[in-house]
This record gives sequence, structure tokens and C-alpha cells, in this order.
Amino acid sequence: MSPAPSTSTSAPPVPIILDCDPGHDDAIAIVVAARHTELVGITTVAGNAPLSSTTRNAIIMRDLLELATPVHSGANRPLIRPARHAGYVHGASGMDGADLPEPSGPPASHDAVGWIIETCRQREGIWLVPTGPMTNIALALRAAPDLASRIAGISLMGGGTFGNRTAAAEFNLWCDPEAADIVFSYGGPLIMSGLDLTHQFQALPHRIEMVRALPGHLAAVLSDLFDFFSATYTSRHHHIDGAAVHDPCAVMALTHPDLFTRRLAHVEIETQGERTAGMTIIDQRDLKEVPDPNCDWLTGIDADAGWQIIVDAIAHYSR
Ligand code: BDR
Ligand code: CA
Repeated sequence: MSPAPSTSTSAPPVPIILDCDPGHDDAIAIVVAARHTELVGITTVAGNAPLSSTTRNAIIMRDLLELATPVHSGANRPLIRPARHAGYVHGASGMDGADLPEPSGPPASHDAVGWIIETCRQREGIWLVPTGPMTNIALALRAAPDLASRIAGISLMGGGTFGNRTAAAEFNLWCDPEAADIVFSYGGPLIMSGLDLTHQFQALPHRIEMVRALPGHLAAVLSDLFDFFSATYTSRHHHIDGAAVHDPCAVMALTHPDLFTRRLAHVEIETQGERTAGMTIIDQRDLKEVPDPNCDWLTGIDADAGWQIIVDAIAHYSR
């Protein structure tokens, strides 16, 4: 397995395609990606909300950041399962809680999968960063197996040693376990930001205040979004003081790898289980005869330093 790229300030930004389902934390992933990567494109998938909503939200974020980045919409449902959403966390729109502008226009195409394939064939060395159900990425890998050796790797948000949508499964993997199975077994570099990690990275009240204190429209919008997101988390959990800000971790894993502690592990996805579909089976056995690691499993984050990166990225675009 190749290690995650290192961040020397002189190194060119890592080229990525962010495949997302905004989603409050996907929105923050877009901000960090815009600031610290070469954001080749944003592709959208049904997940936190229906595809029309996640696409709309991605375009709104692109507009708020005044980026030229194309947004392509993709799969409107998982590979074989019905579409299921997370209005109980993100609201019906997928990004409830703020007064958002109308999107500037439609997506660049409705063929995210074709666009991912074409783009990764034209240019080798792009990282794919899925922060929603992995349907688009799985469809691309299935239609174009050569992508596995053309991309730099996949840095994803999903999984963990515990679940959130079920006792066993994290939401992104629970939505589309078959797609996740294709991604986890694709054979190239894989970085996993799972719930063990992302629950250490919370939008605590004082952290939201750091965003609200920034000047400009974007900071006001994002602090309202954080308020909504954290309110749903704190109302649904016994022991959490702010929303887990999952998705930017998959971006910062590439741009700021020194924030993280990690272990190499072999990880597989349960697709059959009646109660465990979408579970990540992380092989932690201390045996000599276990499968080779396929995954760089991020286990810890310097949350204050990570939050400062988010605040600085928001400040950069907030006028
Ligand atoms: C994941 O599910 C979504 O609600 C978030 O956007 C994140 O990608 C966390 O389980
Ligand atoms: Ca997401």
C-alpha cells in the first residue's frame, strides 16, 4: 500500500474528485477541498437526501465559494437497494438550517460516472474522495476496471468499529453495501475515515463560535448549518456535545496527513447480513496468518488543529 501523500508547502495540491451527498459535513468537505486540493470536480450521489437535493446543495456550495469547479450528478439510488435518506440528521433538504441562495444553474451533466471514467483516463493520479454512499465510484470501477491503476487512490468517509444507522453499520456503507464492497476490494490505496475517527471531530459550541466570529456571508451561512447539524446530533445522542464532522476528514487525510494516527488493516464489507449489512469487518486479530492490509485505517485526529484548518478555509472564502 502506498502511504498518504505528505504535505510540503511547496508540493502541488493533490488532485481530487469529491463524490458527495451534501449534507452539512459534505459541505465542509467541499470548503476544505477547495482550499487545499486541486478540486478537479464534484460529483453527487443520492444519500443524505435525494439526488436532486444533494446536487442542488453541491452547486450552491460551489457558487458560495465562487469556484469554476464542475458539478456532475450521478446515481439516484444504490446499486441494488432502494434509496434511503437521512432527513433525521440533515433535514429534508439535506442542508437544512440556513438561508441558502438558489443554485446558479443545473449540473454540468447527469453522468457523473461517465465523467469520472473519462477524467481519470485523461489524467492519471487523481484521488477519489467519496463522502456519501459509494455508488458512483463502484459503478465507475465496474465499468472501467482500468481506473484502479489510473487513480492515485481512494480516501473515503465510512465504516468504523461501530455503526450509526444500525448498531453495525455506518450510514454511507449501510445505504449501499454492495458499492462499498466493490470499493474496499478494488485493490489500490485506500484510506478510511470511519466513525472511530470522525466522532473525535465534533462541532463543539466554542468551535462553531469560531466560525460565527468570522466576517462575511459564507461564515454566517456555515455557522447556521453547524448549529442545525449539532442540534440534531445532541438531540439524538446521550453523550455528544456537537455534530461529528465526518466528511472533511477524508479530504484532510490527503492534505494534512500529519493530523492523524493510523493503522494498516484488512477491511471487508458485510453485504449479506440481515442485521449487519454495511458493516466494516476490520481484521484486528494478532495472528500471523491474516489477509494483507488493504486499508489505511485512520484511528485518531488532532481535532483542534483540524478545526483550525476548517476555520481558516472558511475565512479564506468568506467575504
Ligand atoms: C456519514 O453519513 C452522512 O450523514 C454524513 O454526511 C457522513 O458522510 C456519516 O455516517
Ligand atoms: Ca456525506
